[in-house]
Amino acid sequence: MSMRGVLRLGEVGIRVMDVAAARRHYDEILGLHEVMEGPDGKIYYKAWDEQDYYSIVLNPSDRAGIDYCAFKVYDDATLTALESKIKAFGLDVRHIAAGAHPKSGRRLQFVLPTGHTMQLYAEKEQLGNTLGTLNPGVVPDDGVIRGTHINRLDHALLGGPNLDETTKLFTEVFDFDLSEKLIDHDSGASLAVFLTCSTKPHDIAFVLQPEPNRFHHASFLLESAHDVIKAADRLGKYRVPIDVGPNRHGITRGATIYFFDPSGNRNEVFAEGYVHYPDSPTLMWDTTAMGPAQFAQDNVPRQSFLEVFT
Ligand SMILES: [Fe+2]
Repeated sequence: MSMRGVLRLGEVGIRVMDVAAARRHYDEILGLHEVMEGPDGKIYYKAWDEQDYYSIVLNPSDRAGIDYCAFKVYDDATLTALESKIKAFGLDVRHIAAGAHPKSGRRLQFVLPTGHTMQLYAEKEQLGNTLGTLNPGVVPDDGVIRGTHINRLDHALLGGPNLDETTKLFTEVFDFDLSEKLIDHDSGASLAVFLTCSTKPHDIAFVLQPEPNRFHHASFLLESAHDVIKAADRLGKYRVPIDVGPNRHGITRGATIYFFDPSGNRNEVFAEGYVHYPDSPTLMWDTTAMGPAQFAQDNVPRQSFLEVFT
């Protein structure tokens, strides 16, 4: 892991059923910046400290859930090299031409063993974070950090079958590390896997679900646990449905809040957590510690957190 392969989760496509309500949620309440609307009605957002043009794409639909997740890779040569490895793993790879997704270079698309559509791309036009690159300062102009003070899209948690095969794909083809894993105490079966391509505790995670292509949450990074508490104030003020109020995960050690958008898609805002290095051991949890693994401040596992997907 030298950050010259897969760089980060660069984009999540989320289906929403009420565009006006979704706009109010993601723009006015959360404070993401709407950067464009496509002729197909898709709405594109970025968080303030992201350089790339957009990271969240809302797709008007009659059902909630995730359309796709897209990872940015270092360069076009990386994309070419990964295509061969993905095919050798046994997945079909579809080519998406440059420009098919606005401001984006060519993409590879394939379906994960969990049933989720994933894309890889190397190029996306950059909009910047308003600071510029010469003597940029440390904070944007007044009013630019809006809403819940989201810095950037961080990770997603997806639900589906075939966790071990998916882990093999991410570790052997995409060169991720398995940072943490939750297993059944009795059978040893994988229940949740946390995968990183960076020094973050996870860039993507998967939880075992019988049905493929389930969406658990997309997560946004705040600067501090203090900001997580302030975000809770704001979510409460605007009556945003809360799944789990401020707490800290055992797995990843992130300070967290879970809540739902108006279509029922779960979002997370979080901060902190540890630094993962390529020589860090995989941290193992089992079902005797479900409470501490999930929410380490009260050690109470939440049923809704385990059962609600879109
Ligand atoms: Fe998360």
